[in-house]
Amino acid sequence: MKVMIDEIRSVLKTGEVDATQVRLIQEVVMDAMETMVERVSGRDFEAGRYLLYKDQDFGFVVMMLVWAPGQQTPIHGHGTWGVEAVIKNRVRVTNYCCETLEAKELGSVVLPPGSVAYVLPPDADIHKVEHFGGPQAITIHVYGKELLENLVFVRGVGLKGMPCSVKNLPAELDWFYDLKWSSSEMPTA
Ligand SMILES: [Fe+2]
Repeated sequence: MKVMIDEIRSVLKTGEVDATQVRLIQEVVMDAMETMVERVSGRDFEAGRYLLYKDQDFGFVVMMLVWAPGQQTPIHGHGTWGVEAVIKNRVRVTNYCCETLEAKELGSVVLPPGSVAYVLPPDADIHKVEHFGGPQAITIHVYGKELLENLVFVRGVGLKGMPCSVKNLPAELDWFYDLKWSSSEMPTA
């Protein structure tokens, strides 16, 4: 995974993230897919959102989301770029336009294992993600900043900042940290 982190850092060194750069990050995450799949293979995790890595220089984070059957997010945005990889099972992503106090559905796609999608405000930002059948699903997300809150769509109100709960990965699930990072590079959150 260190290769993935290093390559994301290399992309971010070139400046603001636009459509070109987010696609480069998407390719980097795609290249790490096999490793990520290997690392979750045969493991079950408690459903939730886990912070795996926070970059001290560029501020981006890597998170693992574990989806129990039937789980789904509200309609929301992150206010930053994001790349999402489906590692295990499937999720459905539905995109929305929320320029008014109503959310207009733009389309929906089921992402099978191995898929890597992205979000990029302001045009490709508001979405909903849901578990799509079968056993637990796992996705890994890279976001441009730590998500202390998400912009959640509330009917009749519009997008509203709401705190975002995150769990630290339990110590025994240290598969992401089998790297030779120096202490200053280790995640702190
Ligand atoms: Fe999201």
